[in-house]
Amino acid sequence: MTALKGLILSGGKGTRLRPITHTSAKQLVPVANKPVLFYGIEAMAAAGIEQVGIIIAPETGDEIRAAAGDGSRFGVEITYIVQDEPAGLAHAVLTAEPFLGRDPFVMYLGDNLLQGGIKELVAQFESANPEALILLTPVPDPEHYGVAELDGDRVVALAEKPPEPKTNLALVGVYLFSPVIHDAARAIEPSARGELEITDAIQHLVDKGARVEPHIVEGWWKDTGRLDDMLEANRLILDNLQTRVEGELIESTVEGRVVIEKGAVLERSAVRGPAIIGAGTRLIDCYVGPYSAIAEDCVVEAAEIEHSILLAGSKVRHLEGRMESSLLGRNVTISRDEGRQPRAYRFMVGDNSEIGIL
Ligand code: G1P
Repeated sequence: MTALKGLILSGGKGTRLRPITHTSAKQLVPVANKPVLFYGIEAMAAAGIEQVGIIIAPETGDEIRAAAGDGSRFGVEITYIVQDEPAGLAHAVLTAEPFLGRDPFVMYLGDNLLQGGIKELVAQFESANPEALILLTPVPDPEHYGVAELDGDRVVALAEKPPEPKTNLALVGVYLFSPVIHDAARAIEPSARGELEITDAIQHLVDKGARVEPHIVEGWWKDTGRLDDMLEANRLILDNLQTRVEGELIESTVEGRVVIEKGAVLERSAVRGPAIIGAGTRLIDCYVGPYSAIAEDCVVEAAEIEHSILLAGSKVRHLEGRMESSLLGRNVTISRDEGRQPRAYRFMVGDNSEIGIL
C-alpha cells in the first residue's frame, strides 16, 4: 500500500469526439468494451492506491458516478469532485485540494491509456522523492501536446502546445506530484486558451528550483481524444486479449484471440480476432474481422465489420460493402432500405456526425 492519493480528471467536453460526446462523457467511450476511465482506476488500484478522487464536470458527472460508483468493485474508495468550469488541469488540482490535502498524488487524465500501468512510477516517485515526476514520450506531432526540454535527468523547460516545439518529447497525461504543486497552481496565470495549465505550474516548480524528474515511457501511450486514437487504443488493448468463448455458437466459427461474452449468440457467422463481442449481442450471417469491439445488446445481420467500435444497442443490417474504421454510438441503426420506394439514402444523423458511403 502507498500513502499516495489518486486524482483522475474526468471533466472536459470531448469536442474532438463529437457526436459521441454530445450525449456521453468521452471517458466512458469503451475501449475493448470497457470505458477508458476504468483502465485508469484499475491502474491506480494495481499500484496500491486506495483513495481516488475523480474530477467531474456538471454536465457529465452523473453519468460518470453511475458508471464507476463508489469504487468498491475496483478495490478503491472514490470521492467525486465537481469542477464547475473547464478552466484547466491546474485549476482541477486546486479544485481537488480539499480532497488531496498535503498528500502526494498521482494525477491521471481520464482519457489516457498507459501500457503497463503506474506501479513502477509510484515506486520511482517514492524512492527518489522529487517535487514532481512527469512522463514523457517521443511523438511525431509534439505541437499538439505539452513539450519538455531535458538536461540529463532534469526537466529544464516546458511549453504547452508550442507552435515550434524544441523537442519531440510530449507530456503524457500521467503526473506524480508532491503537495507543492498547489502553490505552483496558485502562482500561475491563465494561458492564451484561458486555462490554468498544469504545464505552466510544473514550469513554475522548475523556475523555483524544485526537482522535476522525467520518466520516459517505454511502452505505448494513447490519449483517446480523437477517433483515430480511439481505434488505435482499441487495437492495442485487443492485441492482449485472452480468448474466452462463453456465448452460444450456432453454425459459426471463431478464430484467433476472441472474447464472446455470455449471452451473445452467433448464427452462421465468423469472428476473426482479436475481437470482442458483448453480452446479449446477436451476430447473424455476418463476418466480424480483426480489431472490432462490439458492445452489449447489438445486432449485426448480413454485414461485414472490421476495425470498428460499436457501442451498446447498435444495429447494423444488410450492408453491401464492409464497414471499417468506424465508431458507432449507442443505439445507432445502419441498415439497407430494402424494397422501399423511392430508393434513396435515408439519414437521421446528429450534429457533427461523419458518414462515408461507397
Ligand atoms: C493535456 C495537457 C498536455 C498533455 C496532454 C496529454 O492536453 O495540457 O500538456 O500533453 O493532455 O494527453 P489536452 O488534452 O487537455 O489538450
